[in-house]
Formats: sequence, structure tokens, C-alpha cells
Amino acid sequence: MLKLPGLIDPHVHVREPGQTHKEDWDTATQAALAGGITMILAMPNTKPPIFDASTLELAFAAAKQKARCDYAQFIGAGPDNAAMAASLADKAAGLKMYLDSTFGELRLDDMALWMPHFEKYPKDFPIVLHSESRTMAAGILFAAIYDRPVHIAHISLKEEVLLIKAARERGIKVTCEVCPHHLFLSKEDIPAISHGHPGRSEVRPRLATKEDVDALWENMDVIDCFATDHAPHTLEEKDSDNPPPGFPGLETILPLLLTAVSESRLAIPDLIEKMYTNPRKIFNLPEPGETWIEVDENAEYEIKTANQFTRCGWTPFEGWKVKGKVRKVVLRGTTAFENGKILVEQGYGKDIRSLKGDL
Ligand code: DOR
Ligand code: ZN
Repeated sequence: MLKLPGLIDPHVHVREPGQTHKEDWDTATQAALAGGITMILAMPNTKPPIFDASTLELAFAAAKQKARCDYAQFIGAGPDNAAMAASLADKAAGLKMYLDSTFGELRLDDMALWMPHFEKYPKDFPIVLHSESRTMAAGILFAAIYDRPVHIAHISLKEEVLLIKAARERGIKVTCEVCPHHLFLSKEDIPAISHGHPGRSEVRPRLATKEDVDALWENMDVIDCFATDHAPHTLEEKDSDNPPPGFPGLETILPLLLTAVSESRLAIPDLIEKMYTNPRKIFNLPEPGETWIEVDENAEYEIKTANQFTRCGWTPFEGWKVKGKVRKVVLRGTTAFENGKILVEQGYGKDIRSLKGDL
């Protein structure tokens, strides 16, 4: 049995408020615990989006009532909320800026709209960018001009990892995360994921080429964090004429990475660094006391939708053979998950920004 720290996922779409038929604070946090994750940072592209004090309260009210693991909530950058967002910074996980097209209403096309956010958001809390390819290059230029940290969400391309490496070598404060689906899947896997339904393989950033995937593995030392970008949409929605992009990921990230460990493609210290140490540093997260997970590294099994806690009812990794199973999760001294069962009630999870000091 392998003992690891409680893992942190800095990129989760909980879907509440507004789209609880996809997921809510209860099912998302059950899925997190089952996946060995004890703290999630929730994205703001809900309905309504989280962008001011009253929408932040909506998310907090739902989370306080339902969350079973610890959490923080991002604020979304809009065209005219820079001062408001900055004033809420100590309550939020960070500021999320959508600079490229994706699911939801939050999108800032014009660079003039980025400026007030870079000017005002406090430098000790991160700005997270959804920015792909050349938009990412523009985001890194902003980090340099405003001399402040930015964290690039879900990098997927060779050119992105290489540019981040070069920027960092020149002292620009840029960090990044990569998602399992961009490490374990490429464009070549689209037919197998789709089963005749092209919407199932839709995700932003899109699945990339084999060369891009190889470049991410080759530059593993440049990658600060692993994040799921858990983006649950129902199978019915994915198979519709207008399929929303996104994959669930909370319950598959650790088995996929542990399988890579068993194949010597990754080492356990890398996993701890990218799913615990670095997210804590980048997002300024407290040390959770008496929190750990126990994993059976040798358990081999198939990933199956039927065994998942997420409400969305599917996974792009259906039928994958993996090695490594979460047996037990202890969160702040209480066993929260053991042998397939969730053992803490709704409301056990804490908003880590509402606490002073460590958990
Ligand atoms: O595929 C994605 N889905 N990418 C995103 O950036 C958003 C997410 C969602 O919210 O569904
Ligand atoms: Zn996302």
C-alpha cells in the first residue's frame, strides 16, 4: 500500500449553480474523494458565472451545504468587473480569464479588457489563463509587462510547453498545468472515444497530435501541476447536434498516472510534486493536517462508467486497463472514502480561503 498526501486538483467544473443535471457540489466532491483528491479549485463558468460578490455567495452557499472535500472557488474575469474581482481576491481561489473560446459566457476577446485585471488583481493570488497557442504567448507577455505570476491552464501543444520553458528561463513568472487527456490521448484516439458520436471527443483545448503529446512527456520538468479540467456534460448532451466540449476526469487522473508510474514513464515524487507541493505553492493553499490517501499500486482493473460517482455518466477512458486503485482517503483526521464508499456527509468540506492558517 502506497501512502500519498491528499491530492489537489486546481481545475474542476462543478456546474453548480445552474447546471446540476451535469454535476453538483455533492457529486463532484464525491468523485474527487473517490479519485484520491481532497481539495478542488472550482471554475467560475457556471450559470450564472461567478464574477461578483452575489454570484460568489451563490457558489459558497451550495458548496457549504454539499461539499464533501475541501475547496476554493475561482472568480471569472468579465469586461467590467476588475475592481470587484480584485476586492474579492482573498475569498477566491484566484482569477480565471477565458481568453479563448470554450464552454460558457465568460470570454475576453479584446486585450484592452485584459489590462485592468492585470493591473488590479493582487499579485499574491494567481491569475489563471485559458489561453491556447498564440493567445498563450500574449498572456505570457502580459505576465512580463505587469511583472506578476500567471498560471496557464491545460497546456496541450509542443509550442506551448517550449515557450513556457523559454519564458521561465528568462525569469517570467509563468506556471502551467497539463490534463491527463492531453497526456494519454491524441487525435488518433478520436474514433475510439467517439463510438460514432463525434461530440464525445470534443474538448477544449482539442486533443492534439502524437508529436504534441510526446513533447509534453519529454518536457515533464516544465509542467508544474496535473489538473483534471473535470468538465462533466451528460452523454445525451455529448451526443447531441451541438455537443459541449469537456471530459470528466476526477476519478481517472490518479489511476492513469499510477499506470504511467508502473511503466516507469513517471516517478512517484513527480506525482507528489505536481498534485500536492506545486499547487499548494502556486495557489497559496493551506497545509491540510492529518490528510492522506492510501493506494494499492498493484491493483489492476478496467475503468468503468458504472463505478463512477460523477453524475455525467460516461468517461473517455471507458474500458482502459489501469494499475493503481485508491483504497482509503483520510481528510482532516476522518476517513472520507474507503473501499469504494464515501464516508463523510455533505457539508464536511471546507472553504479553505475562509480559514486563517492551516487546516
Ligand atoms: O473542454 C472544456 N470544457 N474546456 C473548457 O475550457 C471548459 C470546459 C467546460 O466547462 O465544459
Ligand atoms: Zn476548464
